[in-house]
Amino acid sequence: MQKSVRTEVIGIASGKGGVGKTTVAVNLAISLSMMGHRVMLFDADLGLANSQIALGCACPYNLSHFMSGQKTLQEITVTSRHGVMLVPGASGVKELAALTRVQASRIVQAFSALEDDIDYLIVDMAAGISPSVLAFMGACQRRFIVVRDDPSSIADAYGTIKVLIQDYDLNEIYVIPNAVNSQADGQNLFRRINQVCAQFLNFTTHYLGSIENDDMILAAHKKYEPVMEFAPRSNSARDFKRLAKSVTQMAPIANFSGGMQFFVERLVRYQA
Ligand SMILES: Nc1ncnc2c1ncn2[C@@H]1O[C@H](COP(=O)(O)OP(=O)(O)O)[C@@H](O)[C@H]1O
Ligand SMILES: [Mg+2]
Repeated sequence: MQKSVRTEVIGIASGKGGVGKTTVAVNLAISLSMMGHRVMLFDADLGLANSQIALGCACPYNLSHFMSGQKTLQEITVTSRHGVMLVPGASGVKELAALTRVQASRIVQAFSALEDDIDYLIVDMAAGISPSVLAFMGACQRRFIVVRDDPSSIADAYGTIKVLIQDYDLNEIYVIPNAVNSQADGQNLFRRINQVCAQFLNFTTHYLGSIENDDMILAAHKKYEPVMEFAPRSNSARDFKRLAKSVTQMAPIANFSGGMQFFVERLVRYQA
């Protein structure tokens, strides 16, 4: 059968923890799914592995069961009530980021078998810039850096962008201001960061929109529901819908080597 889909792989990182990576990953995934796209969320945060909580899903298995050969990728994947497929992370993530080429072939095959079904693969990263986070970011086609308007978040976002560019020679970097007071404030924050990148790294990042600070996100979290479901008319839900629309309108990548298969292949290649 002819393959029609080229999976877009988007990695979501921040440097600093607690700025909203998982919130953005989960609600962007749901918004894209609501638009009719087929979306998979990959939880690559092995420390906290909280995508499943934010998505409101119970996951009997996780990546460690797949890595040990006990379960197939299909068997560990759960589909949320919003139609988002979730690969639960946990301890298998570290192994996946440290595969040898030989070990990788089974995994590459497993991922490429899913390829026809998926338009967007969204990878929710751990905080920081550990070798495993950088390997995952390198394997993605586009990199979203979530940032809040506070000095340590900005410094960590800049530090992450700098490593991605200077040490990993990566492009397609997008800044997503989160928990801002208004779209104008978010755009301003983006401009400030982008200006520093242009001046000191000779590199420009992209902007797709901001997410406002919204108490509904916390209220939703307490109910184990994503805000898209808990408060679909809230300001943040509106912003996630706009962000999803911008994501679908991103300019195509030149020399696109698309999909799940290449994602895992690059993951192996990007290890130092
Ligand atoms: N736009 C926002 N407005 C209000 N609270 C937010 C917003 N984004 C995230 N939060 C809250 O901030 C906390 C950290 O978010 P989370 O997505 O888990 O961050 P990370 O994955 O980067 O560690 C959570 O309690 C979440 O509900
Ligand atoms: Mg998280």
